[in-house]
Amino acid sequence: MDALNINIEHALAYVSRAEVDALLPEVVTAKRHLLAGDAAGSDFLGWVDLPESIDPEMLNRLKADVARLADKSRLMVVVGIGGSYLGARMVIEALQSEFASMVRPSAPYIVYAGHTLSEDYYAQLLQLLDREDYSVCVISKSGTTTEPAVAFRIVKAHLEHKYGIAEAASRIVAITDANRGALHDIAANEGYPAYVIPDNVGGRFSVLTPVGLLPIAMAGFDIDRMLQGARDMRRRCLDCDTLDNPALMYAAVRNALYRKGVKVEMLVSCQPNLRYLAEWWKQLYGESEGKEGRGLLPHSLTITTDLHSMGQYVQQGERLMMETFIRVAKPCATVPVPVDERNLDGINYLTCKTLTQINDCAADGTVAAHVEGGVPVLQITVPKVDEYVVGQLIYFFEFACGVSGYTLGVNPFDQPGVEFYKKNMFHLLGKPGF
Ligand code: PA5
Repeated sequence: MDALNINIEHALAYVSRAEVDALLPEVVTAKRHLLAGDAAGSDFLGWVDLPESIDPEMLNRLKADVARLADKSRLMVVVGIGGSYLGARMVIEALQSEFASMVRPSAPYIVYAGHTLSEDYYAQLLQLLDREDYSVCVISKSGTTTEPAVAFRIVKAHLEHKYGIAEAASRIVAITDANRGALHDIAANEGYPAYVIPDNVGGRFSVLTPVGLLPIAMAGFDIDRMLQGARDMRRRCLDCDTLDNPALMYAAVRNALYRKGVKVEMLVSCQPNLRYLAEWWKQLYGESEGKEGRGLLPHSLTITTDLHSMGQYVQQGERLMMETFIRVAKPCATVPVPVDERNLDGINYLTCKTLTQINDCAADGTVAAHVEGGVPVLQITVPKVDEYVVGQLIYFFEFACGVSGYTLGVNPFDQPGVEFYKKNMFHLLGKPGF
């Protein structure tokens, strides 16, 4: 098996196949709106064709900037929040060693800023930056978001103090709007290399633009393979108008379950390196669908870790959730469970099995238990976790999100609710005009 595959067998006790099939006309209509650009949010559909429309010259320039910066940096600070950071982090955490910060990989290690206002976080970051050679990638589509603006001012001051203004400028790359915003103006004034986030691509759909591509390439991963995965998944999503299309199936099942009263969707995986896939997915679906009093609340679990914290609730708490379980067919490496003749821990019955077989039994046991406990489970299986598969997952979840949002009856491409906290914060901070 070399492609993403979706299995709804363990949801069918809660929604019948006929009920899922009945949604086919709606998801096909939603898909047509995405392709025709004739429904709400149509100004933000640039991501649909992104894997095919990336400018090769821009990619070459990006790779050259990455090579230049990687040559003189042990670290890269990626400054951004929400859609301007979660996609890159999701891919990098999925592909790098869990212990990358300790094992000193051949490529620069990526650290993050601008996603928090914690003073302690920045104090610790600056201590690290005192010690290590670094460069900075600052990302903001609007160029005016407060959190990355504050973080960039702090990091830029540190960089200029450490290297001098001219060298600091050669260590910064900006990714922002082509014409507008404070970050655009700073980059133009200071002469930073800059990359554009297309107007028609919203933040949470921007991982296949320089927003994701530059940090991912800097971390040493093959962005061409990732784009190929996205291209191949795009064909699957565009070419098929039946429920063999995994994006249509996913959108249909989650909407069918929502209409039957399910309120929460948990993205579940047995792989800790996929925890930022869940964070990225939460933003993608939460910001796209959570409006007008509607939408499944996105939540996540890592198994078996969270079975020892959330397992009780999922099994026997209020019945309001479904699970979308990401299964990875093959590990990248094998680790045997050693034989111990004395068997004091009583686990010699496991020594003929690989850890993956044990993990798979935990996953199968969990699915069976949760289904019995009243939780419908979808399973999405991928062959392994590499750049190609991550590219497939990105496009699959994005396309399914557009289809699902239109099927839900909302505009999946705006996020008016995100502004509310900002008004209060600006008022409390005394920003002029608030
Ligand atoms: O998806 C979105 O639009 C948001 O999450 C934004 O990416 C986030 O608010 C950051 O905005 P900006 O890139 O303008 O700094």
